[in-house]
Amino acid sequence: MGISFRRVGANLAAEVEGIDLAAPLPDADRDAIRDGLAEHQLLIFRDQVISSDRLMEFGRSFGELSVHPFAPHVEDTPALIRFENDAETPPFGTDVWHSDETFRAAPPMATALCAKVVPEVGGDTVFASMSTAYEGLSERLRALIDGLQAVHDIKPFKAIFEDTPEDRSELQKFEAIYPPMTHPVVRVHPVTGRRVLFVNPQFTIRIKDMDERESASLLDTLFHQALIPEYQYRLHWRPHTLAMWDNRSVQHYAVHDYWPQARIMDRVTIKGTRPVGLEAADPATVKRPKTLITGAVSHGAHKPHLVEDDIREDAPAAE
Ligand SMILES: [Fe+2]
Repeated sequence: MGISFRRVGANLAAEVEGIDLAAPLPDADRDAIRDGLAEHQLLIFRDQVISSDRLMEFGRSFGELSVHPFAPHVEDTPALIRFENDAETPPFGTDVWHSDETFRAAPPMATALCAKVVPEVGGDTVFASMSTAYEGLSERLRALIDGLQAVHDIKPFKAIFEDTPEDRSELQKFEAIYPPMTHPVVRVHPVTGRRVLFVNPQFTIRIKDMDERESASLLDTLFHQALIPEYQYRLHWRPHTLAMWDNRSVQHYAVHDYWPQARIMDRVTIKGTRPVGLEAADPATVKRPKTLITGAVSHGAHKPHLVEDDIREDAPAAE
């Protein structure tokens, strides 16, 4: 049986079947995964017992691996991030909606995360399709944000540094390497041509060239889109579940409800390209956004129906 994709979420997520990631990845399967990732945005591979080396090889099949400047990595293997949380080491900073590493000039195209130890209950990861989240905005708001740029920053990691002369100078070095970065608020997905809402509350600090108060309230509205259940898929991890997400089109939130239980996850991150906004994109490749049925549309809603017994003949007339 060959590789196949079984859609499990309405707006994103497919389980990938008929593949054993412990074996080297044939080119045809790699291509199918690359296409499937763009289409489904989140791919879930169950029961994949693979070594950390295999996970890195799997990641390298899709591009160069990136090294996270702040995340905990395995000694001598900087491209392999290991989240090892238990009673002594609570999870830090992943319970915020984000796309990975958008503080970079070229944020990653994808991330692969493999569950080694999972808690008895809790510890899910929630994903949101930010292309559907974009399509769920009103046409008027889309028109407003289509040409905007936003500034992304390493702000959540600044808390790692203490208020000592050594840490302050260390932080300055990082700030020089990762200065605030500007990305389009709406990016065009390089494979599907879909528009993606590309601001997140972890790294996006303001809309460029906008009054501070206006920027804060607009960002608040845009950040809210990831919270809408219709755009989400909640992944329940089992040991040896590998998830790969298209970091160009989804955001995610790691639910910290499992602590103090243990949870160990290995991660590799695949380098991406600079996000392209609508102005810079080739118009022939940009898809027209779908219009979703929102609460403002009343088709299908029931007409109010007066029950005769409920009408009070002696009701006083409105004054
Ligand atoms: Fe993340």
